[in-house]
Amino acid sequence: MTNPTAVVIFGATGDLFRKKLAPALYKLFAKGQTPEVFRVAAFSRRPWGDDQFRQFLSDTLLEKSPNLPSETLKKFLEHFLYIEGDLGSSDSYQKVAEVLGRLDAEAGVCMNKLFYLATPPVSYEGILDHISTSGLAIPCAPVEVGEGWTPLEVRPDAASGRPAFYDGRLTGWTRILIEKPFGSDLKNAEKLDRLLGELFSETQIFRIDHYLAKETLQHILKFRFSDGAFEPFWNREHIEKIAIKLFEKEGINGRGAFYDALGALRDVGQNHALQMAALVAMEKPEDFSAAAVRAKRAAILKKFKLAKDAARAQYQGYKTEPGVSPSSTTETYFKIELGLATPRWRGVGFILESGKGLPQSYAAIEVYFKKPIEVTISGERVLAAAVKFKIQPKEEISIMRHSGNPAEIPFSTYGGAVGETKNEAYEKVLLDAIKGDQTLFTSTDEVVAEWKIVMPILAAWRKAAAPLLKYAKGTMPERRIDIEK
Ligand code: BG6
Repeated sequence: MTNPTAVVIFGATGDLFRKKLAPALYKLFAKGQTPEVFRVAAFSRRPWGDDQFRQFLSDTLLEKSPNLPSETLKKFLEHFLYIEGDLGSSDSYQKVAEVLGRLDAEAGVCMNKLFYLATPPVSYEGILDHISTSGLAIPCAPVEVGEGWTPLEVRPDAASGRPAFYDGRLTGWTRILIEKPFGSDLKNAEKLDRLLGELFSETQIFRIDHYLAKETLQHILKFRFSDGAFEPFWNREHIEKIAIKLFEKEGINGRGAFYDALGALRDVGQNHALQMAALVAMEKPEDFSAAAVRAKRAAILKKFKLAKDAARAQYQGYKTEPGVSPSSTTETYFKIELGLATPRWRGVGFILESGKGLPQSYAAIEVYFKKPIEVTISGERVLAAAVKFKIQPKEEISIMRHSGNPAEIPFSTYGGAVGETKNEAYEKVLLDAIKGDQTLFTSTDEVVAEWKIVMPILAAWRKAAAPLLKYAKGTMPERRIDIEK
């Protein structure tokens, strides 16, 4: 059983919370996968109390799934409390510390504490500074259960001189979850890492890239290294190109202010698309431990180089979306080609392409062979022209046959035993952070390598080295249309 755990969510009324975190927390709760004693402190600016926040949470969940069982929903909501606060004010962090102290007192133990930064990346630095000065990174506030409970007392820590709480009972851990993109550029990411390093050890830091927790992507390593049928062909001799596609039909959907400060390359290129490339290209880890897997992903990410000019485009009408600057040059689409100068991959193009407002939602890694290869799948001889690791519209791995019917055959769903619970990406992110398993989180080496790939592209775009193409929503951008200077 997991020890009593408290999660503090900064940005608890934002888009990420509503769309991903709230449903994930609910599902984990409904499946009995949350710790037995489990509290969520939701932090946001809105002038609310616990009841108003619970109403908001209930409405949010019911909007997406109107038929949730009311008894389970009611029990779920009871685990939440609300902290009205301002991310920039020290007083607000004192409130968080007081609430956590009270939760420890109620639980009668020093609870595990998980801080979730579900805010835009511009806020990370300030939040970390405040976490530091308010002593929140230190597991336990002084707690005296029952009568006479004293709230926090912040004293300078004798060794470091930094403020610290008197440490009553040190039983719980403290961990921090940070959303992608980790920082706004390489310099900022390195600064964040320095700040984090002063507060937490690497084993406490969980840098999220929820694509790593997508089922299909979790299965790539099994597909490549355990099943092994394709591994002899996984190289430049047999593979012509690898296309990584993250296509979204929707536009930015009310996330104007957040998105306009980032653009497609920072939003999904610097992280999701590059992690997809890393999984398909990395060498075999010594074992499947977090350390070994992360080291191999980082090693390959360090080797990717831009092979061709990077194209960018913006959908028509983007500049009039709420929160977007009327003179915005932010890209809503990019297409870049990377290469790897390694014996396995020299000469093979890795084409990463993503956009909003495209004709369809589709996300996959497509691996194309130069000539059809012959493999045996479930005892059947198959001539394969390509392999597709699909995430959208449905998670599956499929083999495209060179000819014959059906043209596409599912490789395996890796479904596990019948009745086994499957967890969606954000459920897995939360569960693994609570378990302390860092395999599906990015290391500092990976994040730095990812920024190093992306920085020259952003610099070239800033100098307007690549034109900003325009495309009509619902179409694929093409070079021939409307170039905006
Ligand atoms: C997020 C991006 O990280 O991933 C969004 O910020 C994008 O812009 C989303 O829509 C896609 O994730 P999923 O899980 O819905 O495919």
